[in-house]
Amino acid sequence: MQKDFEERYHLITAVKDFESLRVAFLGRKGHVPSLRAQIKTLPTAEERKQLGARATALQRRVEDGINALRLELEDRAIAKTLEQERADIDLPVLDQHELGALHPVSLIRNKLEQVFQRLSFSVLDGPDVEFEDYNFNKLNIPDHHPARDMQDTFYLQNYQRLLLRTHTSNVQVHAMEQHSPPLRVVSMGRCFRCDNDLTHTPQFHQIEGFVVDNGISFAHLKGMIDVFLRALYGKELATRFRPSYFPFVEPGAEVDIACVACGGNGCRVCKQTGWLEAGGCGMIHPNVFETLNIDSESYTGFAFGFGLDRLAMLYFGVDDLRVLFAGQDEFLSQFPTHLQ
Ligand code: PHE
Repeated sequence: MQKDFEERYHLITAVKDFESLRVAFLGRKGHVPSLRAQIKTLPTAEERKQLGARATALQRRVEDGINALRLELEDRAIAKTLEQERADIDLPVLDQHELGALHPVSLIRNKLEQVFQRLSFSVLDGPDVEFEDYNFNKLNIPDHHPARDMQDTFYLQNYQRLLLRTHTSNVQVHAMEQHSPPLRVVSMGRCFRCDNDLTHTPQFHQIEGFVVDNGISFAHLKGMIDVFLRALYGKELATRFRPSYFPFVEPGAEVDIACVACGGNGCRVCKQTGWLEAGGCGMIHPNVFETLNIDSESYTGFAFGFGLDRLAMLYFGVDDLRVLFAGQDEFLSQFPTHLQ
């Protein structure tokens, strides 16, 4: 009888066979009840006991078998449904155009962010709409200072002390107010000046970098500029420092980069000079430190501010700055989504 069960058990493949298995063994006329019916016909107590035990064992085996089979068939049914309803969630590979493009300035910005993070700089943000104090006064540019004219400023109508920041140097002030040295900071973002020609747009972008610590010198500044330009352009680029005046640094300099487009021989991009003005730099003025309660006897620091748009022009060999902000799909769609 047990053998009969095993044979039937192994034959079962479909859910409906549970029922015939159950009926055959456990049903009213099934094997188990008929074994139990035989018990009372046996002569000795010992024989009755043995047959009772067999009937119970068979019943358990059948019940366990049915349960195991049910689970197995359920699993099989789920696996089958999953297989049939399998959804392909992988997106097909898009071609470059469908992927979209990042704006060349964003590409340079992302790349520089990586470069400076690797040099253990913190990346900070600053407000585009700024108080005069942060854009000028605390950077050693007092009211009525001629430097305010140098940077033709957009003021907010009806808000005398608010303006669109003319440079990212406002981040120096925020950073030094909120954190004490040592500081290694870069910040990238929009700036605004009333300017509009081949190499100037009213809205442009800068990268500001500064380091404040003990014993920081102009040599560190030059070294840092070389390092980040090499990391950006993937090759050694000559730089030229021309003494210049920015009220918040002393000494101060303007930085020219050897034209990447022509290697310094002269071309349209560099207006035949072989050099491109990239930005300003210098040693942070002691007055700035004192205003921000940093001891200028213990600390020195350097700062630089470069035009991100200029760096992007050089990188991609674009010869007119304004095309960066003209919003032409034909121009913008040529760019990738990231730089190596
Ligand atoms: N903020 C200056 C400008 O926009 C550039 C600069 C930054 C100069 C840091 C010196 C130090 O013209």
